[in-house]
Amino acid sequence: LVLILDFGSQYTHLITRRIRSLSVFSVCISGTSSLKSIADLNPSVIILSGGPHSVHAPNAPCFPDGFIKYVESNGVFVLGICYGLQLIVQRLGGEVRVGDKQEYGRMEIEVNKACGLFGSKRVGHRQVVWMSHGDEAVRLPNGFEVLARSDQGSVAAVENPARRFYGLQYHPEVTHSPEGMETLRYFLFDVCGVTAGWKMEDVLNEEIKAIKGMVGAEDHVICALSGGVDSTVAATLVHKAIGDRLHCVFVDNGLLRYKERERVMETCDQDLHLPVTCVDATEQFLSKLKGVVDPEMKRKIIGKEFISIFDAFAQDLDNKLGKRPAYLVQGTLYPDVIESCPPPGSGSTHSHTIKSHHNVGGLPKDMKLKLIEPLKLLFKDEVRELGRILEVPVAFLKRHPFPGPGLAVRVLGDVTEGNALEILRQVDEIFIQSIKDAGIYDSIWQAFAVFLPVRSVGVQGDQRTHSHVVALRAVTSQDGMTADWYNFEHKFLDDVARKICNTVRGVNRVVQDITSKPPSTIEWE
Ligand code: XMP
Repeated sequence: LVLILDFGSQYTHLITRRIRSLSVFSVCISGTSSLKSIADLNPSVIILSGGPHSVHAPNAPCFPDGFIKYVESNGVFVLGICYGLQLIVQRLGGEVRVGDKQEYGRMEIEVNKACGLFGSKRVGHRQVVWMSHGDEAVRLPNGFEVLARSDQGSVAAVENPARRFYGLQYHPEVTHSPEGMETLRYFLFDVCGVTAGWKMEDVLNEEIKAIKGMVGAEDHVICALSGGVDSTVAATLVHKAIGDRLHCVFVDNGLLRYKERERVMETCDQDLHLPVTCVDATEQFLSKLKGVVDPEMKRKIIGKEFISIFDAFAQDLDNKLGKRPAYLVQGTLYPDVIESCPPPGSGSTHSHTIKSHHNVGGLPKDMKLKLIEPLKLLFKDEVRELGRILEVPVAFLKRHPFPGPGLAVRVLGDVTEGNALEILRQVDEIFIQSIKDAGIYDSIWQAFAVFLPVRSVGVQGDQRTHSHVVALRAVTSQDGMTADWYNFEHKFLDDVARKICNTVRGVNRVVQDITSKPPSTIEWE
């Protein structure tokens, strides 16, 4: 196992992903975790991440007391990246100073010793790297050697092979350091002797074994299935482990996309053979949403209704089985886990935003269910791979994200007004189907239509109309945190707009949203 100690760098997750992409299992925990948490994971290599701090700051985060003794007596290799390098240098008796020449962005380094970290024949003497530091190592601890310097003369790489300490001042994990990945690969396999062999099949088998060991033979498990990738893969995996003692519930809240309920139920039934109860709660949701125009209020109402339905589902099972379900499956992903406990002082705040999204349709606190979170060590692309192994249809795995509150945040204003929801469903379906037909669905992070609470004047046939306006939104993004608008070809937009106005009664105008996030958000509410 390669353990990453996180000191708050924005690139820490990227290190974890890069190492996993080499088929080596890696996990990331807070840099200030206890020595016991570190030792329990029994790592053969530890990477100290970068971070926004100076090692001289009063509360600069640091590995726990006894860390150096632990790694040396257990033969653990340690690689410090940026702040991690500075920690090593400072804690082993060298000196780190506030640099007079800060280095940010693209820089060049000169390797003066092509061994150790730079032993790979595939990396050059001169390398372009991505730097992001103010402080610099000015005196190395005894036994350490400089392997490379930046063009400005500052230390770019160090090592002490006898003590198994290594350090890079730049970020090898980002693509702006083109030779960084090869440097990491060489370090892990050739310097540390790590063996590759971590496969998604192993993850699957280990998870199934763990679930079988955890859930008692008489225990029942419930799962709220949204039809999204995460909950579907999680449910499929748990079903493989415990069979029909898993009970899934899918809620039709009247805010779903065109034929969504039928599509999800059909996939669960015919492709995945998952036991799913479909609850039609359209009336319950829409009656509570009547007259509500405030977006946050809509979210709160929807969350509350989900909880009451879920509670009733658990109670029904209790009545039927004579036993309350003991466990709850959640499709929590690794970024949610890490981001929910950012390292001290890391300034990470977006975790809260992500969490509140995931809590939509959240669960009553008094359900006393134990959690099964089989995806909690995986990233989204890894979940998709796991889904493929579990034979979840590929088209399903590639679906664009859909928000928990559904079309309620895409019909601006009162969702129950007129036939707004029905119009939106039809428009959205035409838009999405056209995107699929054009072969560009997979290049887009998310695409959807929005129903605007305004009417505009038009002329259709020889009639003057006063009808609805819809907006089309399509964005590219890596993670939904930032996004850019997708630039369709004019012909495509022209065709879609015509088709919408000619097919959907009540719409006489189509506009396109061409704002990025920020300043906008992806959804309109
Ligand atoms: P925004 O609109 O905040 O959206 O830029 C970022 C991503 O999150 C999704 N989203 C939500 N997902 N519950 C969810 O489960 C929500 O309340 C919610 N709001 C936005 C949005 O679709 C996009 O993928």
